[in-house]
Amino acid sequence: MPRDSAGHLIPGRVGSSRRVPDRIPRPEYVGRPGPRPYTGDDRYSPDEIERIRGAGRLAAQAVEAVAAALRPGITTDELDAIGHEFLVAHDAYPSALGYRGFPKSICTSVNEAICHGIPDDTVLLDGDIVKIDITAFADGMHGDLCATFPVGDVTPEAADLVERTREALTRGIRSVAPGRELNVIGRTIESYARRFGYGVVRDYTGHGVGEAFHSGLVVPHYDAAPDHATLLEPGMVFTIEPMLTIGTPEEPGTVDWDEWDDGWTVVTRDRSLTAQFEHTIVVTERGSEILTLP
Ligand code: MF3
Ligand code: CO
Ligand code: CO
Repeated sequence: MPRDSAGHLIPGRVGSSRRVPDRIPRPEYVGRPGPRPYTGDDRYSPDEIERIRGAGRLAAQAVEAVAAALRPGITTDELDAIGHEFLVAHDAYPSALGYRGFPKSICTSVNEAICHGIPDDTVLLDGDIVKIDITAFADGMHGDLCATFPVGDVTPEAADLVERTREALTRGIRSVAPGRELNVIGRTIESYARRFGYGVVRDYTGHGVGEAFHSGLVVPHYDAAPDHATLLEPGMVFTIEPMLTIGTPEEPGTVDWDEWDDGWTVVTRDRSLTAQFEHTIVVTERGSEILTLP
């Protein structure tokens, strides 16, 4: 429904926030303007890692449930309902709900929306791509993932962007090993994206995750060396979540974006298509492991 005459997204109507039963524990930031500063570590014990995996599994299953419902004609708010109901049915809290005032339980970002799209009365159309980003809070831990899905039949350009963004995440994950600098991840992702002339979003990054939704640790998806040289250590948990764009940035590789007046939705300034994939991972003795698998 809400699209302008050129077919670009415009803000829709956001319905009321969904309720979470009182028996489900909330993250500390709910009902407050924002999270308290996180003073804990980005490294976790084996027990804690299993708890993050539990939250991550529920988030991944919620993404699967939403994906199964995707079809032209469904609204992004209907997708929010599916993700929300799945999580609360499994005693998890949808971490997005009430995070710095975010009004909905999942993020749905269509076509040129890079991230943080608010579910509303936008109707998905044949040929759209949609990013579904879900974070679950369970057993005191957050698990965070995102995937991009085609709606109906998409153009070859869109399908390529989606598959190459998925591959960029896979390569970023494979670059992780103890003793390496964290900036190896973005270097790997950016050099792959550049093969195709894609832009890499710089201003939104991966992040430490676990006890806190966003711990303060920043994981760039571009080559940030010599900055972000933190040495990767076994037990560290963070997300990798590259956002790649088709388009012709003036400065090769960079991406300009605009934020909507809703304070959340981020779109490419040239309205070019963008895709994202995200996993929560843990650094292991030999490499890394994904904690957000169904
Ligand atoms: N899940 C997003 C991320 O990957 C954050 C969403 S914040 C929200 O970091 F408030 F929009 F949910
Ligand atoms: Co994230
Ligand atoms: Co996310």
